[in-house]
Amino acid sequence: MKKIFSTEKKVLRDFQDQNPSQYYSNQKRLYLRYKKNFEYNYTYLFKLPLKIFKGCDLIDFGAGTGDNTLFLAQSGANCTLVDMNQHAVEKSKKLFKHFLNKDEFAKHKFIVSSIFNFKLKKRFDFVQSRGALAHTENPRLAFKKCASFLKKGGMIIYGDPNQFGGFQNMLQRYIIYFLSNDKNDMIRNCELLFKNDIDRSKKYTNRTREEIITDRWIVYKQNDPSFDDVMEWFKSENISLYSSYPPSNQFSIDSHMNFPKKKLYDLKGINTINELLWMRKNKDDFNIINNFINKNKKFIKSQKILSKIFSDMRVDLIPKNKKIESVLNNYFKSLHGIKTLENEEIESTKIFIKEIKSLLNFVKSKNIGGILRAINRSKYLFKGNAGVRHVDYIGIKN
Ligand SMILES: C[S@@+](CC[C@H](N)C(=O)[O-])C[C@H]1O[C@@H](n2cnc3c(N)ncnc32)[C@H](O)[C@@H]1O
Repeated sequence: MKKIFSTEKKVLRDFQDQNPSQYYSNQKRLYLRYKKNFEYNYTYLFKLPLKIFKGCDLIDFGAGTGDNTLFLAQSGANCTLVDMNQHAVEKSKKLFKHFLNKDEFAKHKFIVSSIFNFKLKKRFDFVQSRGALAHTENPRLAFKKCASFLKKGGMIIYGDPNQFGGFQNMLQRYIIYFLSNDKNDMIRNCELLFKNDIDRSKKYTNRTREEIITDRWIVYKQNDPSFDDVMEWFKSENISLYSSYPPSNQFSIDSHMNFPKKKLYDLKGINTINELLWMRKNKDDFNIINNFINKNKKFIKSQKILSKIFSDMRVDLIPKNKKIESVLNNYFKSLHGIKTLENEEIESTKIFIKEIKSLLNFVKSKNIGGILRAINRSKYLFKGNAGVRHVDYIGIKN
């Protein structure tokens, strides 16, 4: 417990210095854009149509300034916002006041508390915690605590960076900590080495450069769980995975008639290849998948022909033997030319690992010019998204 509270103290100091989560600062126009994006995320990515929040009790642990809770309140949830940072809680109160009328505002509660100290008899339909638990000394224990406030049949919305998605971020932290003598030095080095990341983040969120730097590289604690870790937490709290974004491995070949149903958390390692992709991802899916479809045009065509040959089979309309043979032969040939996303990703990851090794040689000798050159010429390392960091998991309490 002593370690837990000493970590909280340090994280609180960093977040009181630079707030990590104020995205639209009470600006109505910015908020509307933000809200639209969130409504899409919850409805289509998390599979939580907003109607289900109406009249429900929701508690948000580590709610920060409430920027990511407000739209749930506007969807009809009665919200309890919990955060250890008093300044953030005051801001969340102000934010709710600004966007809600008096009666609506009265439905919500704002509590300054550590997750570990929080006590309440009430149980909730929804427990949410996004971007907070990985900052605690013991995310697994923090998750257990949050999950204990769920009603049976209630849902948890838990989000944090994934251990693999956050791999490049941790590598950046290592470099900054290895090279810097104090906090000012850290900020200077972040600007020098990761200027593109900060510029990119600035484009998407209305935060200052110092807020972004603190949230990404300076905050004292960031311990991200892997997909398997989270599934283990779910299992021990008797929670079943309902959805996640990005989704887990999409293999789902069991018939809906199968019984008893199998639990995803009993398939350890199910997401390994996805996590490889999350670690290295530097382009948007749309481009990657479009490119992949184009490379497989021949195979896609012959697969369609293969399925057609036995479709709509009728007693008076069967295909000729010769035709069947030719379709099977063509399909067989086309299999040799398939390009799989997984193979391409594995090849790119080999280059990515070589880039890391070369960069670390310059880091070892504190050769800033060399580090900058290694980053500039890399194809994958610290490029574009630099990994898919954040993963959200939605679960149902059994
Ligand atoms: C990165 S912010 C995320 C805020 C918000 N959930 C969001 O999605 O934007 C992390 C928040 O977690 C809070 N936090 C971290 N550790 C906590 C703890 N042990 N107890 C309560 N709050 C905590 C911090 O004070 C901070 O406001």
